[in-house]
Amino acid sequence: MVEEAKKILYSAVQPTNNLTIGNYVGAIRNFVALQNDYDCFFAIANMHAITVRQNPAELRQRTLSLLALYLACGINPEKCVIYVQSHVPAHAELCWTLNTFTYVGEMERMTQFKDKSARHADNINMGLMDYPVLMAADILLYQTDYVPVGLDQRQHVEIARDIAQRFNNVYSPTFKVPEAMFMKVGAKINDLLDPSKKMSKSSENVNGSVFLSDDKDTVIRKFKRAVTDSEACIRYDSENKRGVSNLLSVYSAFTGKSLEEAEREFAGKGYGDFKLAVGEAVAEKLAPIQKKQAELFADKEYLNAVLRSGAERAAKAANRTLAKVYKKIGFYQI
Ligand code: TYM
Repeated sequence: MVEEAKKILYSAVQPTNNLTIGNYVGAIRNFVALQNDYDCFFAIANMHAITVRQNPAELRQRTLSLLALYLACGINPEKCVIYVQSHVPAHAELCWTLNTFTYVGEMERMTQFKDKSARHADNINMGLMDYPVLMAADILLYQTDYVPVGLDQRQHVEIARDIAQRFNNVYSPTFKVPEAMFMKVGAKINDLLDPSKKMSKSSENVNGSVFLSDDKDTVIRKFKRAVTDSEACIRYDSENKRGVSNLLSVYSAFTGKSLEEAEREFAGKGYGDFKLAVGEAVAEKLAPIQKKQAELFADKEYLNAVLRSGAERAAKAANRTLAKVYKKIGFYQI
């Protein structure tokens, strides 16, 4: 019997700031869950990272730290291609080509560009605006079927689809048109102090974000302070009870229990007990990941070997697509 080829899955995380439980719940834990069923490419998006000024030593350190985190969370480098974006030149090359299929107006309208321009008004560089095109290049190079991401990336995956379709229409089918994949629970984890906005690595108030590097006491303290409401009832209602619903999502994601199970478990309990239980569930899950990440981080030789092999495998797949593109657009080949 001929085995059916697996569908291709692609995602990436930027090695910037401290990663939050939002990054874990919305993205990384899903990479682990999906790795057996798909051919996976997971990148460390350091080229996206420099659209906001980075300290070079920190960027280098965070790149390895993110790799150690991927591995500590359970992404298996034997099964998945794990690599650093800048190690595969095809990303920059395809990005340049796709720029000529992307309109300035549509980039100016992107929500994240508008947000980041407001936050970094002193450095609204071309890269910041071009960010979604580089992301489209990432995804399209690998003939990706699915892109597991958090909800904040929906618009970027949409534009990747538009660009792919535009190119395919001008020439002939060249790129697979990818689809975003969102998890039912946890596609948007919100800030603990302002549950109307997404939990972010770069939030002004660090108490609203739980970082993957936070120790147990810090995690519990942050959850204890989380904003809820005055109803004193633990039920999921993301419109009217944003704080409580956010905590239920976190609890569900970290324990593997459904939202309904979580609601039943806390029926009749007070918010104090509930917040403590959520904090404990998170801290309990993070501790072994942190320990493993620290061990792996110390083994630079192993990490470099993973990246070398990842870059080689990624480049092979990426160059195949890039060669097709160059041929179609009329770049002379020797
Ligand atoms: P980044 O580094 O901002 O975030 C990495 C992943 O974490 C998800 N995420 C969240 N999910 C739920 N709740 C939250 N509060 C939360 N915060 C972040 C993000 O949706 C993302 O999935 N541009 C991307 C990186 C990237 C990429 C790609 C992703 C570069 N190329 C190609 C997919 C495909 C980014 O900045 O993610």
